[in-house]
Amino acid sequence: MHRMKVPRHIAIIMDGNGRWAKRQGMPRIMGHYRGAEVAEEITKACVDLGVEYLTLFAFSTENWNRPMEEVNLLFELMRDYLLKKKKDLIELGVRMRFIGRRDRLPKDLVALMKSMERDTEKCDRITLFLAVDYGGRDDIVRAVNRIIKEGFKEVDEETLSSYLDLAGVPDPDLLIRTAGEKRISNFLLWNLAYTELYFTDLCWPEFSKEELLKAIEDFSSRQRKFGRVLDE
Ligand code: FPP
Repeated sequence: MHRMKVPRHIAIIMDGNGRWAKRQGMPRIMGHYRGAEVAEEITKACVDLGVEYLTLFAFSTENWNRPMEEVNLLFELMRDYLLKKKKDLIELGVRMRFIGRRDRLPKDLVALMKSMERDTEKCDRITLFLAVDYGGRDDIVRAVNRIIKEGFKEVDEETLSSYLDLAGVPDPDLLIRTAGEKRISNFLLWNLAYTELYFTDLCWPEFSKEELLKAIEDFSSRQRKFGRVLDE
């Protein structure tokens, strides 16, 4: 077997929680609860594999269009998770950060997010970015507005990317999306320019370390060209 190339940065669109729950005859939110457990398993697996950055799409700028009841339950799940899991994450060496807007989220949730970032600041085995109220277009627009405020007349790629939420972080090498949909859905638009894409029909609650290894195997077999011509 060839040696696996482990991506430095993996990004994941965790789709299909609702469908999975429905198939089990359970309310949608149970899919999200199971989804959060899988997110934890996958974080651990990434630590073991030596992945340096993991970015998970938990709530998009478009998810506000869901029934408010589901939105509130998702925030409740996040509160629960942030309160209960801090110790475990610190022991695992997970530095946790959040990307996305903070101005529309419940104030107490934002306070928990900040305290998680502060208390895991020194952890150094992996950086886990949780995207909450995140949209790729919104990320770029916020960056541009800050650039304008600072008085720039012109920007280049390096400057613009240094104002994005993932400033200073290497672009994802691999994007995984579960549940059969083959789209980016306004996730990290700028950062995914050269990312390898991997899709699986499994719903997120069915995803596992074994499936992650399959995705990494597939990634290992790809030749990344970044627009160049490769010598024979
Ligand atoms: C997509 O499934 C999933 C979401 C919109 C939420 C994902 C959130 C989590 C897994 C919780 C993460 C939280 C922590 C703290 C790690 P869907 O509801 O769109 O599924 P469907 O397409 O089948 O309806």
